Amino acid sequence: MAREMPHATGKVPPGDVTQRVGIEVMEARGVNVEELREKLIDAIAAEFASTYYYYTILRMYLAGHEDYKEICEDARLEDRAHFELMTPRVYELGGSLPYNLHEFADRAGCPHAYLPGTDNGQHAPEMGDGKGPSAADILEVLLDSERCAIRTWSEICDLTAGGKDPRTYDLASRILNEEIEHEAWFIELLSMERDGVVRPSGHFRRGEPGEAPYSKNRPLYNP
Ligand SMILES: [Fe+2]
Ligand SMILES: [Fe+2]
Repeated sequence: MAREMPHATGKVPPGDVTQRVGIEVMEARGVNVEELREKLIDAIAAEFASTYYYYTILRMYLAGHEDYKEICEDARLEDRAHFELMTPRVYELGGSLPYNLHEFADRAGCPHAYLPGTDNGQHAPEMGDGKGPSAADILEVLLDSERCAIRTWSEICDLTAGGKDPRTYDLASRILNEEIEHEAWFIELLSMERDGVVRPSGHFRRGEPGEAPYSKNRPLYNP
């Protein structure tokens, strides 16, 4: 008698390329796949547009603070890694990046990290008396951005936890690990810079700029 193989067939017929068992099993476990997919697009738009792009500008204006620049650079490159890590998941779930970059940037789930003194990116900052935006002003923007990212990825973890979608959960929780570190870094720097108060983050330094110890996706996707 043939041995029973309960997983050999299922709802998706053999050879059918219009459906995905990877989605079917999530729906069977109660995941609203379309809602999750759209939230993922909003979340990666925030990584790419709200932080990676604007952190580039913020890092430039931390001129004179090499230590802050380096830490801002780590956060910047790791946010790019977060975009890279989660983007393939959108396609696995049957979605797509918007075909227009403006549309993508507009649907970011977090506010853009504009350089202070630019009226939300409307113009260059006033640099009168050799003063630009202060390091404390910039660190406040960085801190608030990280906090939005923590809330965002925590929600994705909530929607996928408990075996409902182990793959998205794994990717989101790796990103969340780094967002929590980023918040701690900027609390430490802002607290000392603005208030003169020591609030250690536990951080020393990444091995390489943008090390992304949890979310680096080279071993997963990129050659
Ligand atoms: Fe991020
Ligand atoms: Fe971050």
